Amino acid sequence: MSNDSSKLELAGKDYDLQVMRGTIGPDVVDIRKLYGQSGAFTFDPGFTSTASCESQLTYIDGGKGVLLHRGYSIEELSEHSSFMEVSYLLLNGELPSADELADFSYTISRHTMLHDQLRGFYQGFRRDAHPMAIMCGVVGALSAFYHDSTDISDPEHRKISSHRLIAKMPTIAAMAYKYSIGQPFLYPDNSLSYTGNFLRMTYGVPAEEYVVNPVVERALDRIFILHADHEQNASTSTVRLAGSSGANPFACIAAGIACLWGPAHGGANEAALNMLREIGTPDKIPHYIERAKDKNDPFRLMGFGHRVYKNYDPRASVMQKTVREVLDELNLDDPVFEVALQLEEMALNDDYFKEKKLFPNVDFYSGIILSAVGFPTEMFTALFALARTVGWVAQWNEMISDPGQKIGRPRQLYTGPTARPYVPVEKR
Ligand code: ACO
Repeated sequence: MSNDSSKLELAGKDYDLQVMRGTIGPDVVDIRKLYGQSGAFTFDPGFTSTASCESQLTYIDGGKGVLLHRGYSIEELSEHSSFMEVSYLLLNGELPSADELADFSYTISRHTMLHDQLRGFYQGFRRDAHPMAIMCGVVGALSAFYHDSTDISDPEHRKISSHRLIAKMPTIAAMAYKYSIGQPFLYPDNSLSYTGNFLRMTYGVPAEEYVVNPVVERALDRIFILHADHEQNASTSTVRLAGSSGANPFACIAAGIACLWGPAHGGANEAALNMLREIGTPDKIPHYIERAKDKNDPFRLMGFGHRVYKNYDPRASVMQKTVREVLDELNLDDPVFEVALQLEEMALNDDYFKEKKLFPNVDFYSGIILSAVGFPTEMFTALFALARTVGWVAQWNEMISDPGQKIGRPRQLYTGPTARPYVPVEKR
């Protein structure tokens, strides 16, 4: 990283600010000393122009529609790699050799079981609890069960807790699903792949042998790869902020899950499929496009638009191809897919969406695949959380290992009342 300098003039005084340069991407003006030198803060709600950290994990060029993990394109990773391989890459910085991959997969498979007492937690939830409510609670509760891996200053503890989180998320998510439909929990089967094991824990029953469909397994594994990490998005920033105070990793990931739940973030895949179903038939599309453009109508095209991508989200095109593979394999002719394809085409040819650079995002097509596989919409965000856990723990580890790491503490532009005398209650 090389440094240049730039000047800022504020109230007639000049301030020298370093310009930091990454390996790729925009230059970054270092304002860390600005307050100390000038007494002024910067104002950036939603952090649209602020880099909150240095990172070597993921690079996005939203204008060009590029997503790289440790330098490898998401298209190549989703075509050639498995989710385990991408997880290793995110955590360790390099693609694994065959032996390293086998070792890593073995290690993860040895952490898939939950402490048996955690099973009791599920009974405390209503049967109709949203799986994300269960995920927030159970993942946060892991910190009460795994005291032997919560010393965040010990790299070995951090490694074990990272492996535990990645390994246990499929078990936790599958158990949330089983609980909602009243079926018994299934223990993990470590002879299966990470994703095959998850499918079995979700759809298998103790009374029958479950045979994993390789096309569905590959499609779901690819969905996990596409969701594995995405730079400093809202939930990842939440994990980093929670972790910056020294909170244990299980609590930090629970915070990330809470943030991911919102419909503007991870909840969008559920909202996108609900919207496509509501539209129902292609003839209704123009009506919904008009609604999305109407400033007096709160309706937005879910699965469209992105804070960073002002071009086609590269994950959405991989997802679109995967929808076809899954529907063909399962012999399904889902009318919602046709609605999605036509909606995309119409929106991309509409001036409003062109001018605002609104393109389909990863969530636009993922719901169709997940629904075809048999997941109810409430499970969609839980699957996103499962996959994003590796990104969250990799980012959390990167932050904790950084010797310059500080507690996150944004400042504010105060617009409330100035100091005033207190008025006793009988005089108000
Ligand atoms: N439908 C209609 N109009 C939209 C949409 C949409 N989906 N998205 C943005 N716009 C419009 C806004 O109304 C705004 O118009 P204006 O300039 O006239 O006020 C303009 O485009 C810019 O939108 P912002 O909300 O300011 O953009 P921001 O970057 O803050 O928001 C967001 C990005 C939240 C993703 C937004 O596009 C959205 O709500 N999309 C739908 C929800 C969704 O799909 N979320 C998933 C994101 S991907 C993920 O989390 C994995």
